[in-house]
Amino acid sequence: MPSKAIWKELEAAAVKASQRAYAPYSEFQVGAALLTDKGTIIRGCNVENASFGLCLCAERNALTTAIARGNHKFIALAVATPGQDPAPPCGLCLQMLAEFCTDLEILLVSSAGKKERTRLATLLP
Ligand code: THU
Repeated sequence: MPSKAIWKELEAAAVKASQRAYAPYSEFQVGAALLTDKGTIIRGCNVENASFGLCLCAERNALTTAIARGNHKFIALAVATPGQDPAPPCGLCLQMLAEFCTDLEILLVSSAGKKERTRLATLLP
């Protein structure tokens, strides 16, 4: 289980990633940060497209970047979303995370400052 300091770092990384989001259609800028078993943090943001089906979520961006960098084991995920309440990853992202993790600790943070802790096994039983 990550320490308080690591959770803070992961949260800050997710917020920073959200600032790089390309979301001109939804204007919903999302950032994700994955903590690997090697202790590194890998970020991703959502990348939208005029063809809506091609929109890539922040979580899948972080995951595929992590895989491309040689990581297959993950300890925790932080997701930063705009608005009042934290938002969980979508079904596609949960399914892709489940390919690599039987369970994963997840921190959801909203730009209003609300936080929620959950797990992959809870969101995708
Ligand atoms: N989005 C994410 O990046 N992650 C989520 O967990 C939920 C949704 C993105 C997809 C799309 O670019 C925008 O947010 C609106 O749905």
